[in-house]
Amino acid sequence: MSLVVSENVSLKPFNTFGVEVRARLFAEAHDDAEVREALALASARGIPLQVIGGGSNLLLTGDIDALVLRMASRGLRLLGDDGEQVLVEAEAGEPWHPFVLWTLEQGLAGLENLSLIPGTVGAAPMQNIGAYGVEIKDVFAGLTAMDRLSGELRDFSLEECAFGYRDSLFKRDVGRWLILRVRFKLSRALSLHLDYGPVRQRLREQGIDAPTALDVSRAICSIRSEKLPDPAQLGNAGSFFKNPLVPAGLAERLRGEHADLVAYPQADGQVKLAAGWLIERAGWKGFRDGDAGVHRLQALVLVNYGAATGLQLLDLAQRIQADVAERFGVALEMEPNLL
Ligand code: EPU
Repeated sequence: MSLVVSENVSLKPFNTFGVEVRARLFAEAHDDAEVREALALASARGIPLQVIGGGSNLLLTGDIDALVLRMASRGLRLLGDDGEQVLVEAEAGEPWHPFVLWTLEQGLAGLENLSLIPGTVGAAPMQNIGAYGVEIKDVFAGLTAMDRLSGELRDFSLEECAFGYRDSLFKRDVGRWLILRVRFKLSRALSLHLDYGPVRQRLREQGIDAPTALDVSRAICSIRSEKLPDPAQLGNAGSFFKNPLVPAGLAERLRGEHADLVAYPQADGQVKLAAGWLIERAGWKGFRDGDAGVHRLQALVLVNYGAATGLQLLDLAQRIQADVAERFGVALEMEPNLL
């Protein structure tokens, strides 16, 4: 295939916030050759190449003077199977949730807790997506990326990706590596993670005592749909802030002032606080200014009621950050990538 490039393209359909900005050039890459073509074109035109996936972790704050390349490569394959562990590979452009369903249909467990996360396979390692007690690093087997400087392909192991909470080498070294395909180590045996929040309780309510991976996936879909707005109905980018890590002393002081503080002690002695709780307590849940707002059911999610601009959403985020810092002495870090 050969790259089809368009000029002055609206990115509204390509970001789940539904923000209207335009890209100087826009193209979709269906294979490695088209990614290379895009790199060559951007360099020939003297403009940056900006890669996007599902656009579900993006805040676009203005028109983009670049070649915006949407990864649209497709392909799912089983690479190895020893009867217990199965290695699967997915191309970067595969939408995440259908990929999870495909693994479940193959009788493979491991990704069920990550059901219904928007976005693509290629974007998932960027921020080490996680939900309900599982992160992709827990089932990650490797990925292949293109070095945009040399055009060469390189395989990355789990250690080399340096995954952290909503963090990876690819998030820190933004733009250097173009993720082409990702491999996962899944299992034919069940090893379910049911201890996070309401998962076990939801299964019990559904009368399921011995859940399969598919049952867990369904329970997680129902929990997520209750709390998190569907981007097709209401623009959003999932959690807008990370849950902050604070020193134990600060958590203890806050607990003294607020008995219902939501806090999770970490192995390293720090304490992770629920940003949603802090934002709700500061009075922002359900707040709306024009078309930019805070979701009424989940304070961690900023929403676009229709015509909010990226700058209006950013302004709201900064007001929340300042207020939470003043009230609780806690710095909230934004989760989406700002463009
Ligand atoms: N909470 C509130 N008010 C709110 C929201 C949350 O008090 O408005 C409290 C809840 O009551 C609960 C605690 O905060 O005690 C945690 O809430 P929840 O389980 O809903 O999870 P979260 O911390 O808000 C994180 C992830 C989500 C992920 C869920 C489930 C981050 C930044 N967010 O949210 O990930 O789906 O846990 O594992 O870590 C995403 O990254 O985009 C995302 C949606």
